Amino acid sequence: MTDESQQGRRNFLRAAAGLGSAALGLLLALPGASYVVDPLLRASGKKGRWLPVAELEGLEEEHPVSVSVVGEQRDAWTRAPQRKLGMVWLRKKGEQVVAFNAECPHLGCKVGYDRDQKHFACPCHESAFNQDGDVQGGPAPRSLDPLETRVVDGKVEVRFVRFRAQTAERVEIG
Ligand code: FES
Repeated sequence: MTDESQQGRRNFLRAAAGLGSAALGLLLALPGASYVVDPLLRASGKKGRWLPVAELEGLEEEHPVSVSVVGEQRDAWTRAPQRKLGMVWLRKKGEQVVAFNAECPHLGCKVGYDRDQKHFACPCHESAFNQDGDVQGGPAPRSLDPLETRVVDGKVEVRFVRFRAQTAERVEIG
């Protein structure tokens, strides 16, 4: 074999080894990259999700009822099935179901409901809200946060969303 052909063979082997290393590096990097990028892509969609919360026939028009919202808990990199995500107040109003997130817009305490006064009341700093969620007193910067509802086969579903506390503007946070 001549010097020239030996040199050519060496160059070919060197190039092949380089390509193999690059391919292996790419293969190893792909899962890591998708691990980082996938949650960021998921997080860019519309916030909140539809979850079933109650039977329609269990609701009444005169007073709201509180129900827990249970579903998969997700953050950017983990998921946990069937966790309590929050609480909502539900009331029938004609053909509609009115829903409020039970977190007080002041600092996030759970608001209760006074059946005698027919209003919502926060136990932490005494914010009060009428049945339509409007602020009647206290430090809450806005009305209770309404949630979209729908009825599917007799079950009430809400698009469950949480909102930033302490702002007059309603800002969805998850
Ligand atoms: S958290 Fe409700 S009034 Fe402060």
